[in-house]
Amino acid sequence: MSKLRAAVIGCGRITSAYLPALKNIGPETVELVLAMDKQLDRAEKFAEHFPGCTASDMVDLISFKNLLREYQPDILHILLPHHLHCEYAVAALESGINVLTEKPIGISLMDADKMINASKKSKKQLGVIFQNRYIDGVERVRSLIQDGTLGAVKGAFSMLAWHRPPSYYDCDWKGNWMTEGGGVIIDQAIHSIDLIRYMTNMEAVKVQGHVARRVLENIEVEDVADAAITLENGAVYSFFACNYYTKNSPIRVEIHCENGTALLTADKMDISWENGENETILPSLCASSAEGENYWGVFHEKQIRSCYDALTRGTPMPWGPEDAKKTLEIVLSIYLSARISDSVTI
Ligand SMILES: NC(=O)c1ccc[n+]([C@@H]2O[C@H](COP(=O)([O-])OP(=O)(O)OC[C@H]3O[C@@H](n4cnc5c(N)ncnc54)[C@H](O)[C@@H]3O)[C@@H](O)[C@H]2O)c1
Repeated sequence: MSKLRAAVIGCGRITSAYLPALKNIGPETVELVLAMDKQLDRAEKFAEHFPGCTASDMVDLISFKNLLREYQPDILHILLPHHLHCEYAVAALESGINVLTEKPIGISLMDADKMINASKKSKKQLGVIFQNRYIDGVERVRSLIQDGTLGAVKGAFSMLAWHRPPSYYDCDWKGNWMTEGGGVIIDQAIHSIDLIRYMTNMEAVKVQGHVARRVLENIEVEDVADAAITLENGAVYSFFACNYYTKNSPIRVEIHCENGTALLTADKMDISWENGENETILPSLCASSAEGENYWGVFHEKQIRSCYDALTRGTPMPWGPEDAKKTLEIVLSIYLSARISDSVTI
């Protein structure tokens, strides 16, 4: 496979990250052949950046499958509301198309299982975007933990304090349990949870969480959450997230180990070693960074490029859907724990 054919379904806000990413990856690597959205103008607006790309609003599942059959993309990017990830991913996989979906993999473990099974059955790949794993300092800390240099993980914490105005929820899926699957945890802070899993290389075994809707009035899901998440070695990860702060404060993700503490502030990593030495790892951002979301997470290009490389070489994409399902399981365990007012064992 020399040059990939790609299709996109869902041309909303997140295209601000995909547009520069696909442009930088370039027409010698990828040709965007099809952009789909139930709102034709959105599909057209995205397609017009890619010569020869067709825009379509024929997005019911039958028409969708017909379009895939007609345009034969090698990969479909799913940029849809959360509750739709599963049905479109399964339909694409069943049509013999590889899929790279936005996070979260779905809104339930059942969704995730259906997608994983469809991928296995079709022998087509399914990837899930967690672009912040590509932050340079994240990779460094993951290796330092894996090779034992940082020593055992003793504890972790993450804090997200962001601002989401009422207008952010002014659409037909955000702010609802049935369509978004939750609020600040599943949509924004899922990245922090995923980074703790990725860097520590440990799974959660117990979750005690609390969620509430305290400030934002036009949503039914949580706008604040906290949790004590016990990792498999007994270390406790303290989690906090809210999206009613006055601005998008830089996310903080910290891991305290025997030999040092790693603190990620937005995309800058500081490691303070117990011997008094300090190390800072700044991101070597991809060229698209200036045009994407500017507060956190401009690494879509890196993940998409890695996935394209893998497909071209016929190797597995950087991580599989089982991995993304584990992150979703922690998110859903916080919701369950809050609902039953008790801890949840994973
Ligand atoms: N990785 C990240 O950091 C990041 C950041 C933002 C959003 N996202 C993810 O991107 C996805 C989309 O989020 P968004 O903010 O762009 O949402 P959005 O509401 O702006 O866009 C969703 C688009 O899907 C379209 N749509 C809805 N139903 C459809 C259907 N049945 N068929 C075709 N199109 C349909 C809508 O018309 C809309 O244009 C979500 O999974 C979200 O979590 C990821």
